[in-house]
Amino acid sequence: MMLCGSLRFSPKSPLTRLKVFDLLSLGFGGSLRSRRGSTSVGYLCSARNNAGLAFSQQIGQQTTPLSGLDDELLGYISGNKKATEVAHSIWKRIVQKGDTVVDATCGNGHDTLALLKMVADGSGKGSVYGMDIQNCALENTSTLIKESSDPNEVELVKLFNLCHSSMEEIVPKGILVRLVAFNLGYLPGGDKSIITLPERTLQALEAASRLLEPEGLISIMVYVGHPGGRDEYAVVQAFASQLLVEEWVCCKFEMVNRPAAPVLFLLFRK
Ligand SMILES: C[S@@+](CC[C@H](N)C(=O)[O-])C[C@H]1O[C@@H](n2cnc3c(N)ncnc32)[C@H](O)[C@@H]1O
Repeated sequence: MMLCGSLRFSPKSPLTRLKVFDLLSLGFGGSLRSRRGSTSVGYLCSARNNAGLAFSQQIGQQTTPLSGLDDELLGYISGNKKATEVAHSIWKRIVQKGDTVVDATCGNGHDTLALLKMVADGSGKGSVYGMDIQNCALENTSTLIKESSDPNEVELVKLFNLCHSSMEEIVPKGILVRLVAFNLGYLPGGDKSIITLPERTLQALEAASRLLEPEGLISIMVYVGHPGGRDEYAVVQAFASQLLVEEWVCCKFEMVNRPAAPVLFLLFRK
């Protein structure tokens, strides 16, 4: 397994001693945020609070509870956690209550629901804009949201039958978003011939980059095991590679000896 791009770790480091800070401080330049701001002993980083302050990367200051993310990352490294679980854990560190976020591929709604729980705070603030080109996917998403959320939360989700290349049409003008999530490929349990397509994905990534606010994240899960998956991988890789290093931190989680395993790209806007 290899963490490519900006995330690297020394093969000499025993996993049991590997702290999430060791990974994240390399990849994200100290800009990931804590959602809670309470303390936890043992990490060599401190976090700013929910007002949106960033890790100070200093020893001896307030520290943050990152054990959940530690577990996910170490679980991924040891083959016990999926890339989707890593993605959700990282989203939780980026997304704040009241944020606006986008699910660019709703599918069966699992990501939409996860995002809803991250932005909803009971005050009516926060929005999840979700889209899919298949009505059945939107119906599945809608059903899941209604089954798993209270009516006030349901109100925060807006679903559209729309290609993600047009996402700028549904996010209100002047609103920037904290996170855009892509989970590419086909609808699980649905028609496997209906897949995301490289050209549209590229247009959608460009749209997402225009919508994203500073310290926001574009998260892209690429399934390379199905026909066309490798073409999408190449497009995402090329898009991420050309983003300015002064403005973006781009990395990916990729299993080296499992070539069909999904690849998680994370494009963090500084
Ligand atoms: C892997 S699934 C998404 C899984 C979903 N995020 C979940 O949590 O269940 C990919 C979805 O992308 C949708 N899709 C394909 N092309 C699209 C496009 N151009 N714009 C938006 N959605 C698209 C498919 O219909 C499918 O439902």
